[in-house]
Amino acid sequence: MQKEEELKLTEEVLQLKEANSAFLGAGVTQQGYDHYRGEKRFEDERQKLFRRLPHAVAHSAALAGSHAFLRAEYAGVPLLLTRDDRGQAQAFVNACRHRGMELVAEEAGCARRFTCPYHAWTYGSDGELLAAPHFEQGFGELDKAELGLHRLACVERFGFIWVTIDASDEIQFDDYFAPIAADFEALNIAELGVAEETVLNLKANWKLLVEGGLEAYHFKVAHKNTIGPFFENNLSTYQVLGDHLRSVLPRTSLADSDTSSPDFRLLDHANLLYLMFPNTQFLVQQDHLIWIQANPLATDCTELRLRTLAPAESLGQDELREYWKKNHAITCATLREDFAIAEGIQRSVQAGLDQSMIFGRFESGLGAFNTTVSRRLAS
Ligand code: FES
Ligand SMILES: [Fe+2]
Repeated sequence: MQKEEELKLTEEVLQLKEANSAFLGAGVTQQGYDHYRGEKRFEDERQKLFRRLPHAVAHSAALAGSHAFLRAEYAGVPLLLTRDDRGQAQAFVNACRHRGMELVAEEAGCARRFTCPYHAWTYGSDGELLAAPHFEQGFGELDKAELGLHRLACVERFGFIWVTIDASDEIQFDDYFAPIAADFEALNIAELGVAEETVLNLKANWKLLVEGGLEAYHFKVAHKNTIGPFFENNLSTYQVLGDHLRSVLPRTSLADSDTSSPDFRLLDHANLLYLMFPNTQFLVQQDHLIWIQANPLATDCTELRLRTLAPAESLGQDELREYWKKNHAITCATLREDFAIAEGIQRSVQAGLDQSMIFGRFESGLGAFNTTVSRRLAS
């Protein structure tokens, strides 16, 4: 982020603090419970959000070196990521073109060729069908060149490998990234690595898990035993950046900081939270970054992936590894408070009553997020 932008965001927060006011949206809004339940709803979201929008499937370091590969799953689709001869990241559906057998069962590794365990059709790391036993006799009328793995739109940006499963409406990666590109370039995420990872299966709709990060109204209540004391009471701002959101979550130390000092850094006194629409959040802290993905498995069930990204050079040092481990445990403890709340809300939602939740003026970030959800679903 540019210095000027950083100071503008700082000033905005300090003025609110001075005025003893929260950051206020235009008015109170309501969101019906149906927004968080129902099979039809889930299927719509899968097709129109999760399969159509770019998703960060892996950090670049997880696919380091030529012919590296890794297996993943997103929005119900089994994926195979590879790095081809030219070092380019590629994404495919991890299914053999013959009769659909899962091609690669190994989590990750290094391979130039992938041979299907069923009848040994063999593919290269660029997805091309290289060999198939008895091909001429059995499939002679088909063109081998047409039988490569089903390729998905894939790009490597900001230290991640992004995949779009259904690129039919031609969502352009650049258009999607443009509103946050400058901020993300500055984060130098390619120079970080995954220090720790936690995967949780939560009984909550994915949107409730996203919403948990979009207001500071709950900090002094729900997080009173963890981070609450370090943050301002009900004070956070946000900016709408295309479909995405950026939120500034000031710690109490900001009010006492010298913002005119050349050494002043907003990150020393606040967390920044980026919501990369629809379901990925990056919580940027002083010396590391938390990468949170809420991957929906069902309307009321979400796989939550929580990773601490830290400078790659620190990951080989025992002492620092230990430091990141402790840090990650603290992050998990705090976020588990949010996750338990999301599960509690989901139980109310699943009761089937025709009710709504209410977003106050200082919770308008939730309204902004859900407006984008609804707009995308209507398109
Ligand atoms: S299903 Fe893969 S070779 Fe037959
Ligand atoms: Fe929280």
